[in-house]
Formats: sequence, C-alpha cells, structure tokens
Amino acid sequence: MNSNTASEHSTIGEEHLSVPASERADFVVVANRLPVQQVVTEGGEEWRPSPGGLVTALTSVLQNHNSLWIGWPGASGDGDPPLTYEGIRLKAVAISPAEHDNFYLGFSNATLWPLYHDAIRAPTFHRHWWQTYKKINMRFATAAAESVAPGGTVWIHDYQLQLVPNMLRQLRPDVRIGFFLHIPFPPSELFMQLPWRKEILAGLLGSDLVGFQVPQMASNFSRIARRQLGAKGTDSMLEYDGRLIGVGAFPITIDTAQIRALTADAKIRERAREIRRDLGNPEVVLLGVDRLDYTKGIQQRIRAITELYADGTMSGDKHVMVQVAVPSREADAHYELERHSLEQVVSEMNGDHSLVGSPIIHYLHQNMPFDELLALYLAADIMLVTPFRDGMNLVAKEYVASRTNLTGRLVLSEFAGAAAELRGAFMVNPHDLDGIKEAVCLALKVSPKEARARMSRMRRRTLRHDVYDWAESFLASLQHVAAVDSREQAGEFDPPEDGKS
Ligand code: F6P
Repeated sequence: MNSNTASEHSTIGEEHLSVPASERADFVVVANRLPVQQVVTEGGEEWRPSPGGLVTALTSVLQNHNSLWIGWPGASGDGDPPLTYEGIRLKAVAISPAEHDNFYLGFSNATLWPLYHDAIRAPTFHRHWWQTYKKINMRFATAAAESVAPGGTVWIHDYQLQLVPNMLRQLRPDVRIGFFLHIPFPPSELFMQLPWRKEILAGLLGSDLVGFQVPQMASNFSRIARRQLGAKGTDSMLEYDGRLIGVGAFPITIDTAQIRALTADAKIRERAREIRRDLGNPEVVLLGVDRLDYTKGIQQRIRAITELYADGTMSGDKHVMVQVAVPSREADAHYELERHSLEQVVSEMNGDHSLVGSPIIHYLHQNMPFDELLALYLAADIMLVTPFRDGMNLVAKEYVASRTNLTGRLVLSEFAGAAAELRGAFMVNPHDLDGIKEAVCLALKVSPKEARARMSRMRRRTLRHDVYDWAESFLASLQHVAAVDSREQAGEFDPPEDGKS
C-alpha cells in the first residue's frame, strides 16, 4: 500500500505550469461541486447557483480577491459550465461516469460518509474505489497547483477531497493551504476501521490549518494523528513533517442577513399564511426538512409522531405534519432503500390516522426553492431536526433565524453539531423513540412565555455570527498559523509540547 500518493509526484516547476502566471489566482476554493449546477427548465437545461449558504459566503469572500473556484460540474446534462459565476472564475474538473461510480458513489458516499456518521450503515471498503479516490484527488490537486499564484491561498472543502492538501503541498510548497471538513470527524474506534487511515491523516496534515465543525471532532483528529502518525503537539497545534499545522473548530452558520430580509418580505409571509390555510388551519403545524439521507433520522421521527397519534396525544383535526425530503444520491442503493421504507412509514401513518381530505402528514419528495422553505419555517409551530449524526445542520439555524416574533419551538438531536449552540431547543437522543415522543409532548405543552425565552436564547446565539464571519475567521486563523510556521522555519519559535491544548 502506498503511504503517500503525493510523494510520487515532485514539485511543479514554474515552466511546467500550464496556466500563465498572469492568469493565476491569489485565492482558490477547491470543492467537490462548482457553485453552479445544471437544472432542467421548460426552456431546456440551464446553469443556476447551487443552493446553500456556503456558496453565498464563499462567493462574497472570493469576489474580494483575484479568485477561482475549482469543482466538479455534476453528473447530469451536457454542455460546459459557465467560465465565471458572479465575477468568480470557474474551473471544472471532469469526472467520467465510471470514476463517478468509484469516487463519488463509492469511496466518498459508501465508505467515508457512513463511516464518518457513526457507521449508521455499514461502510463498504473496496480497493478499486480507493484507487479512484486517489486519482481524482490528484486531479483536483493538480488543477489547484496549476491555477494558484505564487504564495497564494487554497481553501479545500470536505470529505471527498481529504488527500488534496498533501498532494497540493508536494506540488506547490509555496502556497498556504486550508481544509474544512463539513461533516463529522469520527472517533478513533470508527476511524481505525479505514484501511487507508494513515493516508487520509497524512493527506489532511498537508494543510496549514484543518477546520472542523465542533471542538470534539478537532480533538478526535489531533489525538488520532498523534497516535497513528507520531505527530507532536496539542489538540490545537500539531507538528508533523517539520511543519506546524493548526487544528480547530469553526462551526459553520447561515446567511442571517438574507434570512432577515426574506422573512420580512410580505410575499413570503402571505405564502406562510396560505400554507397554513391549505393545511386546514390546524392548531399545530410540525415540520421536518431534510435531504433524504439515512443519517437524518426521518423515519424514527415519523414513527414517534405516529405513536402520539395512536395514543391520542395528537389528532388529525388539530395537528398536521409536513415532511420535506429533498432527493439526494439516488443512484446509491442505501438511499433508494431509505426512500422506499420512509414512504412506507409515511403511507402507514396516513392510512391509520388521516381524515378524509386531510392527511396528517404531507410528504414532499422534491427540491424546494429557498423562498418556499422560508415560508414553511414561518408556517411551522414545531420544527423537528433529529439526525442520528450531523456535522452541523443548518436547517435548525435557519428555522431559529426566521422566527423573528420569537414563536416556534425546535426539537433537536443532541448528535447534530448545532446542538452545542442551540441550547434552548428540546433536546433528544434520536435513537430513543420514547425520548422523541417526550420532547414533542414538551414542545406541544410548553407555555408561550417559556417558548419565547427558549427561542430568544437560541436567536441571540444564532444571530451573533453569520456565514461571512465564519469564512473570515477561518481565513484569519489560516494566515496566523502560516505566519507562526514561517517564524518556526526561521528558527524563532519553540514547537508545541505534546498533549492536550
Ligand atoms: O454535508 C455534506 C455535503 O457534501 C454538502 O456539502 C452537500 O450539500 C450535501 O452533502 C449533498 O452532497 P452531494 O449532493 O454533493 O452528494
């Protein structure tokens, strides 16, 4: 087994860089997907911005620099992506259908995704998937190496690209490299299952700064790097291969200003009233919004609600639930199975408890424009976010940010990264069906005064920072670590002691 794929490749000499120096970017973002995606409309296929706060945040950071975004344009449709998006240059990394099967569906989403999410489904380990993962990571690293200006900054995102930092460092030791993991980083007991654990660790340690969603994940990583690769140092600053690497928690958040503006929009407020009317003006609207993913605990939540209808705590004339399940990774057998069993549970629930003309659960398996999601947040009295494991979960934060009149209650899994910040939620262990039922009952019965107090506590915390602050704080730390490392290289710094920070 190769211990370090990048070491097979030597530094790229200036003369071998295919992009002329004048066209290289000072700041490069490398992510699995480009910030635009191809969608099918009545007029044919067109490129639209990919949804999500990350694109919004990075777009504004990138617009202030001579910058470039490197990513995969997606599997659907034909035609090349645009050359720019909102003034940012785009560089597409091509992935063939066979590579897509091994790299995206295989190693990324059937090995790493379940392993990093508490092995809720058994991870599958295939050597040929790993070979393609290395190959595609090298393709991304090479694209970044060719495109970044001397001494520039490259920010690499997420679990699909964990080898890129070290590959890029081998090719371009002059650049500053940051990596942020959007999903959980697992505890040692799980991570150790990975046959290529040392290569992944060495890949990440090619960064100057490795960022995680919560401190626990940062210390999982540092501890494993010390044990497995003999890195020295603390949970927040490691020394490896003669360099310093910063490690820290940078909890991602939302575009609060955008949500504030949209929730004040009269059209969206009217749409929220219309949704409640369409649902039959029930006393209580419960809402779930998730990608259709087995990590999200959607079935467990619906089973708990079904039991509350069965025991008479809830009734079809007073309580209605809306569950949005956004289609995701549909070519993966686990996801296909999850969809079938979820739809079975939904249909059983409706069959057993609905009234003529008014189903108790409105199930929407579709992509939803953000305006419509916002209207749903405004229409919902109780939001249910109950993943078995989640890096952060921005839906929980979006719901809280949208509740400007301090109404609304949040039932939240203690295993979502957001739980560390949203202490005013009704917390649940998503594996505990009775616990979910109890939390929903508490949310149904809570006094308006206590509900307001809980919501204002969560809003204070959520509105303190936005996604722009998140990006700035990561980039400021990256600059700081790189400066400390340069001082150390110049012999002006004592490397960190071993142990915890
Ligand atoms: O949460 C991790 C993530 O990769 C996000 O970045 C992305 O929005 C989501 O999962 C869906 O991922 P994809 O459709 O690219 O597999």
